[in-house]
Amino acid sequence: MNPSIKDYIVSINSAIERENFGSKPQELYEPIRYIMALGGKRMRPLLSLLAYQLYQDEIEKVIPASLAVEIFHNFTLMHDDIMDKAPLRRGQDTVHKKWNEPVAILSGDVMLVKAYQQFIQYVPNEKLTEVLEKFNQCAIEVCEGQQIDMNFEDQEQVHEDEYLEMIRLKTAVLLGFSLEFGGIFAMDNEADHALLYQMGVNAGIGFQLMDDLLDVYADQEKFGKQVGGDIIANKKTYLLIKAKELASGENSNELNQWLRAKDFDSSEKVNAVKAIYDKLSIKQLTETKMNQYFEKAFKNLDDLDVPSEKKLVIKDFFNYLINREQ
Ligand code: IPE
Ligand code: IPE
Ligand code: MG
Ligand code: MG
Ligand code: MG
Repeated sequence: MNPSIKDYIVSINSAIERENFGSKPQELYEPIRYIMALGGKRMRPLLSLLAYQLYQDEIEKVIPASLAVEIFHNFTLMHDDIMDKAPLRRGQDTVHKKWNEPVAILSGDVMLVKAYQQFIQYVPNEKLTEVLEKFNQCAIEVCEGQQIDMNFEDQEQVHEDEYLEMIRLKTAVLLGFSLEFGGIFAMDNEADHALLYQMGVNAGIGFQLMDDLLDVYADQEKFGKQVGGDIIANKKTYLLIKAKELASGENSNELNQWLRAKDFDSSEKVNAVKAIYDKLSIKQLTETKMNQYFEKAFKNLDDLDVPSEKKLVIKDFFNYLINREQ
């Protein structure tokens, strides 16, 4: 990975380590420290820094405020893992498994509030209202996307466009916000604010397509999440939508049987559905779709009113995302 990206991540991690989040009751705060210390890519605060460095050099200035998006992201993960009945996160037990669901709900709630505190404390007054209004819009959309994602589990037919809109909401708008936030913090060029947001949304859709792909094809050790979870839950991912569209005859019957099955052995279902995906070259189709969205993001990057050498580090980061294994 690009050396300055590594440096940025080190700085973000040390800022997170300095946060205590709260002490008593410890059942409320311990899960917050636990999930925040599990690591992860730290992509959202990193995107804020990457946007900021396009316009300003003193990167340390934006770090404390940028933690807000990482805290918010980890709140969504804590609740998402309950919704998705996920046992593993970043190679460790999920919070609701290690403690229990009520603890994961309440600790998550506090994290949402902590995200606001972080903005209020570290965003300059003259920019705070704009930042909070945009963040509110983004946070509401993430919840809308999460609900639609769950609705789709029980919906037989989901069109590709409905899926793309769902992942725009649940995942991509937060990447858009994170980049736009770094831009707002750095400068006042509204055209570039809008481009940064659009770039994040396009990269975010590509990113979620890759997440769906890795959920089937990743090495579980590297991925850190249960491989096959989306298949078990009948998640309407791009992979499943394409497979339903392309399967015919025996493949189509078998796929539909697995989707209707109530009592099944999880690994048997995962292997059977994966075998159908393989026959239909679903992996390649998903990669093509992902690349299309990253291409759009690269185009947005080109359009920013910034010298091209400044943009290289973002290009490198997007290429890392395209080739990632976790
Ligand atoms: C996981 O996000 C949730 C999705 C939107 C797919 P990340 O893949 O960024 O998770 P971490 O923070 O790196 O663990
Ligand atoms: C989650 O999508 C997006 C949010 C957390 C808002 P996923 O459910 O695919 O994320 P993972 O795979 O559990 O990280
Ligand atoms: Mg989910
Ligand atoms: Mg999930
Ligand atoms: Mg996923």
